[in-house]
Amino acid sequence: MARKPKEEWKTYEGIFDKFTVRTLFELSGAGFFDALESPIALGKEANIFTAIKGKERVCVKVYRLETCDFNRMYEYIRTDPRYAELKHHRRKIIFAWAQREFRNLLKAREAGVRCPTPIKYKNNVLVMEFIGEQKPYPLLKDLPPDNPKQFFNIMIEEMRKMHKNNIVHGDLSEYNILNMNNKPVIIDFSHATQLKNPEAKMLFERDINNICRFFRKLGLKIKEDDIKKKIAKS
Ligand SMILES: Nc1ncnc2c1ncn2[C@@H]1O[C@H](COP(=O)(O)OP(=O)(O)O)[C@@H](O)[C@H]1O
Ligand SMILES: [Mg+2]
Repeated sequence: MARKPKEEWKTYEGIFDKFTVRTLFELSGAGFFDALESPIALGKEANIFTAIKGKERVCVKVYRLETCDFNRMYEYIRTDPRYAELKHHRRKIIFAWAQREFRNLLKAREAGVRCPTPIKYKNNVLVMEFIGEQKPYPLLKDLPPDNPKQFFNIMIEEMRKMHKNNIVHGDLSEYNILNMNNKPVIIDFSHATQLKNPEAKMLFERDINNICRFFRKLGLKIKEDDIKKKIAKS
Protein backbone atom coordinates (compact mmCIF):
# COMPACT_ATOMS: atom_id res chain seq x y z
CA MET A 1 0.00 0.00 0.00
CA ALA A 2 1.28 3.45 -0.87
CA ARG A 3 1.74 6.07 1.82
CA LYS A 4 -1.24 8.29 2.44
CA PRO A 5 -1.17 11.72 0.84
CA LYS A 6 -1.08 14.57 3.33
CA GLU A 7 -4.76 15.56 2.95
CA GLU A 8 -5.88 12.10 3.97
CA TRP A 9 -4.15 12.44 7.29
CA LYS A 10 -6.63 15.16 8.02
CA THR A 11 -9.28 12.48 8.49
CA TYR A 12 -7.44 11.57 11.67
CA GLU A 13 -8.10 15.00 13.06
CA GLY A 14 -11.48 13.81 14.27
CA ILE A 15 -9.72 11.16 16.35
CA PHE A 16 -6.51 12.87 17.44
CA ASP A 17 -5.38 16.37 18.24
CA LYS A 18 -3.39 18.22 15.54
CA PHE A 19 -0.07 17.64 17.23
CA THR A 20 -0.60 13.87 17.22
CA VAL A 21 -1.73 13.89 13.58
CA ARG A 22 1.51 15.67 12.69
CA THR A 23 3.56 13.14 14.65
CA LEU A 24 1.81 10.25 12.86
CA PHE A 25 2.38 11.99 9.53
CA GLU A 26 6.08 12.43 10.28
CA LEU A 27 6.52 8.82 11.36
CA SER A 28 4.80 7.66 8.22
CA GLY A 29 6.93 10.03 6.12
CA ALA A 30 10.03 8.51 7.69
CA GLY A 31 8.83 5.08 6.54
CA PHE A 32 7.83 3.48 9.84
CA PHE A 33 4.37 2.66 8.47
CA ASP A 34 2.18 3.58 5.51
CA ALA A 35 -1.15 4.20 7.22
CA LEU A 36 -3.09 3.26 10.30
CA GLU A 37 -5.32 0.27 9.61
CA SER A 38 -7.76 -0.49 12.42
CA PRO A 39 -8.12 0.28 16.10
CA ILE A 40 -7.27 -2.64 18.40
CA ALA A 41 -8.01 -1.15 21.77
CA LEU A 42 -8.95 2.01 23.54
CA GLY A 43 -6.99 1.92 26.76
CA LYS A 44 -6.89 4.09 29.83
CA GLU A 45 -4.29 6.42 28.44
CA ALA A 46 -3.55 5.19 24.92
CA ASN A 47 -5.24 4.13 21.69
CA ILE A 48 -3.71 1.10 19.99
CA PHE A 49 -3.86 0.48 16.23
CA THR A 50 -2.55 -1.85 13.64
CA ALA A 51 -0.78 -0.06 10.81
CA ILE A 52 0.17 -1.30 7.38
CA LYS A 53 3.81 -1.26 6.38
CA GLY A 54 4.22 -2.64 2.87
CA LYS A 55 3.10 -6.24 3.14
CA GLU A 56 3.44 -6.26 6.91
CA ARG A 57 1.73 -4.87 9.96
CA VAL A 58 3.09 -2.94 12.89
CA CYS A 59 1.41 -1.90 16.10
CA VAL A 60 1.04 1.81 16.91
CA LYS A 61 0.31 2.95 20.44
CA VAL A 62 -0.79 6.57 20.70
CA TYR A 63 -0.78 8.10 24.17
CA ARG A 64 -3.60 10.60 24.25
CA LEU A 65 -2.55 14.17 24.92
CA GLU A 66 -5.99 15.55 25.54
CA THR A 67 -7.85 13.15 27.73
CA CYS A 68 -5.23 11.07 29.41
CA ASP A 69 -5.37 10.80 33.13
CA PHE A 70 -2.33 12.92 33.64
CA ASN A 71 -2.16 13.02 37.37
CA ARG A 72 -2.34 9.27 37.72
CA MET A 73 0.39 8.84 35.07
CA TYR A 74 2.52 11.38 36.90
CA GLU A 75 2.16 9.49 40.15
CA TYR A 76 3.37 6.28 38.49
CA ILE A 77 6.45 7.71 36.76
CA ARG A 78 7.43 10.05 39.59
CA THR A 79 9.29 7.41 41.61
CA ASP A 80 11.24 6.01 38.65
CA PRO A 81 14.81 7.28 39.28
CA ARG A 82 15.36 7.83 35.55
CA TYR A 83 12.67 10.52 35.53
CA ALA A 84 13.20 12.05 38.96
CA GLU A 85 13.59 15.62 37.74
CA LEU A 86 10.32 15.78 35.87
CA LYS A 87 7.96 18.46 37.04
CA HIS A 88 4.33 18.91 36.22
CA HIS A 89 5.00 19.54 32.59
CA ARG A 90 2.11 17.86 30.93
CA ARG A 91 3.28 17.02 27.42
CA LYS A 92 6.79 16.20 28.47
CA ILE A 93 5.48 13.68 30.94
CA ILE A 94 3.30 12.01 28.35
CA PHE A 95 6.27 11.90 25.95
CA ALA A 96 8.37 10.42 28.75
CA TRP A 97 5.71 7.78 29.21
CA ALA A 98 5.98 6.71 25.53
CA GLN A 99 9.76 6.86 25.69
CA ARG A 100 9.83 4.80 28.86
CA GLU A 101 7.73 2.07 27.33
CA PHE A 102 10.07 2.04 24.32
CA ARG A 103 13.14 1.78 26.54
CA ASN A 104 11.58 -0.90 28.71
CA LEU A 105 10.64 -2.98 25.67
CA LEU A 106 14.15 -2.58 24.26
CA LYS A 107 15.70 -3.71 27.50
CA ALA A 108 13.32 -6.65 27.78
CA ARG A 109 14.01 -7.72 24.18
CA GLU A 110 17.76 -7.49 24.83
CA ALA A 111 17.19 -9.82 27.76
CA GLY A 112 15.42 -12.26 25.44
CA VAL A 113 11.98 -11.68 26.94
CA ARG A 114 9.03 -12.72 24.80
CA CYS A 115 7.60 -9.24 24.14
CA PRO A 116 7.10 -6.99 21.09
CA THR A 117 10.27 -5.50 19.58
CA PRO A 118 10.08 -1.72 19.82
CA ILE A 119 10.65 0.03 16.51
CA LYS A 120 10.45 3.78 17.15
CA TYR A 121 9.01 6.39 19.46
CA LYS A 122 8.33 10.01 18.73
CA ASN A 123 6.55 12.39 21.09
CA ASN A 124 3.46 10.50 22.31
CA VAL A 125 3.56 7.71 19.69
CA LEU A 126 5.21 4.30 20.00
CA VAL A 127 5.67 1.95 17.04
CA MET A 128 6.34 -1.70 17.81
CA GLU A 129 6.17 -5.18 16.40
CA PHE A 130 2.61 -6.43 15.86
CA ILE A 131 1.95 -9.65 17.77
CA GLY A 132 -0.71 -11.44 15.80
CA GLU A 133 -1.68 -12.71 12.42
CA GLN A 134 -4.69 -10.99 10.86
CA LYS A 135 -5.77 -9.97 14.34
CA PRO A 136 -3.75 -9.65 17.55
CA TYR A 137 -3.37 -12.87 19.50
CA PRO A 138 -5.97 -13.08 22.28
CA LEU A 139 -5.28 -11.96 25.80
CA LEU A 140 -4.55 -14.74 28.26
CA LYS A 141 -7.69 -13.78 30.20
CA ASP A 142 -9.81 -14.52 27.12
CA LEU A 143 -7.99 -17.67 26.04
CA PRO A 144 -6.49 -19.76 28.85
CA PRO A 145 -3.70 -22.09 27.69
CA ASP A 146 -4.31 -25.75 26.80
CA ASN A 147 -1.51 -26.74 29.17
CA PRO A 148 -1.46 -24.33 32.13
CA LYS A 149 1.63 -25.90 33.73
CA GLN A 150 3.71 -25.52 30.59
CA PHE A 151 2.54 -21.92 30.06
CA PHE A 152 3.20 -21.07 33.72
CA ASN A 153 6.72 -22.48 33.50
CA ILE A 154 7.47 -20.28 30.51
CA MET A 155 6.09 -17.30 32.45
CA ILE A 156 8.46 -18.03 35.34
CA GLU A 157 11.35 -18.13 32.92
CA GLU A 158 10.26 -14.82 31.37
CA MET A 159 9.97 -13.22 34.81
CA ARG A 160 13.40 -14.57 35.70
CA LYS A 161 14.90 -12.99 32.58
CA MET A 162 13.27 -9.67 33.44
CA HIS A 163 14.45 -9.76 37.04
CA LYS A 164 17.98 -10.74 36.06
CA ASN A 165 18.09 -7.78 33.70
CA ASN A 166 16.78 -5.29 36.20
CA ILE A 167 13.25 -4.95 34.81
CA VAL A 168 10.10 -5.06 36.91
CA HIS A 169 7.02 -5.16 34.70
CA GLY A 170 4.75 -3.58 37.27
CA ASP A 171 1.41 -4.36 35.63
CA LEU A 172 1.73 -8.06 34.93
CA SER A 173 -1.49 -10.05 34.77
CA GLU A 174 -3.63 -12.05 32.35
CA TYR A 175 -4.66 -8.66 30.90
CA ASN A 176 -1.14 -7.92 29.63
CA ILE A 177 -0.13 -11.32 28.32
CA LEU A 178 -1.08 -12.50 24.84
CA ASN A 179 -1.64 -16.19 24.23
CA MET A 180 0.35 -16.80 21.05
CA ASN A 181 -0.37 -20.42 20.13
CA ASN A 182 -0.07 -21.48 23.77
CA LYS A 183 3.03 -19.43 24.49
CA PRO A 184 3.06 -16.09 26.31
CA VAL A 185 4.01 -12.75 24.82
CA ILE A 186 4.17 -10.05 27.47
CA ILE A 187 2.92 -6.59 26.48
CA ASP A 188 2.27 -3.17 27.99
CA PHE A 189 5.60 -2.22 29.56
CA SER A 190 4.41 1.30 30.30
CA HIS A 191 4.61 0.72 34.05
CA ALA A 192 7.88 -1.18 33.99
CA THR A 193 10.73 0.13 36.07
CA GLN A 194 14.13 -0.76 37.49
CA LEU A 195 14.87 -2.66 40.68
CA LYS A 196 16.30 0.43 42.33
CA ASN A 197 12.93 2.17 42.16
CA PRO A 198 11.71 2.31 45.77
CA GLU A 199 8.43 0.78 44.61
CA ALA A 200 10.06 -2.06 42.66
CA LYS A 201 9.78 -4.64 45.44
CA MET A 202 6.08 -4.02 45.88
CA LEU A 203 5.48 -4.12 42.11
CA PHE A 204 7.57 -7.28 41.72
CA GLU A 205 5.60 -9.04 44.42
CA ARG A 206 2.29 -7.89 43.02
CA ASP A 207 3.26 -9.18 39.55
CA ILE A 208 4.11 -12.61 40.96
CA ASN A 209 0.98 -12.61 43.02
CA ASN A 210 -1.22 -11.84 40.00
CA ILE A 211 0.33 -14.57 37.88
CA CYS A 212 0.12 -17.17 40.66
CA ARG A 213 -3.50 -16.26 41.35
CA PHE A 214 -4.45 -16.70 37.70
CA PHE A 215 -2.75 -20.10 37.35
CA ARG A 216 -4.14 -21.33 40.65
CA LYS A 217 -7.58 -20.72 39.23
CA LEU A 218 -6.59 -23.01 36.36
CA GLY A 219 -5.83 -25.75 38.89
CA LEU A 220 -2.09 -25.47 39.50
CA LYS A 221 -0.75 -25.92 43.01
CA ILE A 222 1.69 -23.08 43.53
CA LYS A 223 3.89 -22.10 46.45
CA GLU A 224 4.43 -18.43 45.90
CA ASP A 225 7.58 -18.18 48.03
CA ASP A 226 9.28 -20.90 45.97
CA ILE A 227 8.33 -19.13 42.77
CA LYS A 228 9.69 -15.85 44.10
CA LYS A 229 13.00 -17.53 44.94
CA LYS A 230 13.18 -19.16 41.52
CA ILE A 231 12.62 -15.85 39.77
CA ALA A 232 14.98 -13.81 41.93
CA LYS A 233 17.92 -16.21 41.57
CA SER A 234 20.08 -15.22 38.57
N1 LIG B 1 2.37 -5.27 20.04
C1 LIG B 1 1.09 -5.62 20.03
N2 LIG B 1 0.62 -6.51 19.11
C2 LIG B 1 -0.68 -6.86 19.09
N3 LIG B 1 -1.62 -6.38 19.94
C3 LIG B 1 -1.23 -5.50 20.87
C4 LIG B 1 0.13 -5.08 20.98
N4 LIG B 1 0.22 -4.19 21.99
C5 LIG B 1 -1.01 -4.07 22.50
N5 LIG B 1 -1.90 -4.85 21.84
C6 LIG B 1 -3.35 -4.96 22.09
O1 LIG B 1 -3.84 -3.72 22.55
C7 LIG B 1 -4.39 -3.85 23.87
C8 LIG B 1 -3.99 -2.68 24.75
O2 LIG B 1 -2.58 -2.57 24.80
P1 LIG B 1 -1.79 -2.23 26.13
O3 LIG B 1 -0.38 -1.98 25.74
O4 LIG B 1 -2.06 -3.27 27.15
O5 LIG B 1 -2.43 -0.83 26.52
P2 LIG B 1 -3.21 -0.32 27.81
O6 LIG B 1 -2.25 0.58 28.48
O7 LIG B 1 -4.36 0.38 27.26
O8 LIG B 1 -3.57 -1.51 28.67
C9 LIG B 1 -3.86 -5.17 24.38
O9 LIG B 1 -4.74 -5.74 25.28
C10 LIG B 1 -3.68 -6.00 23.14
O10 LIG B 1 -4.90 -6.62 22.79
MG1 LIG C 1 -2.68 -3.25 29.10
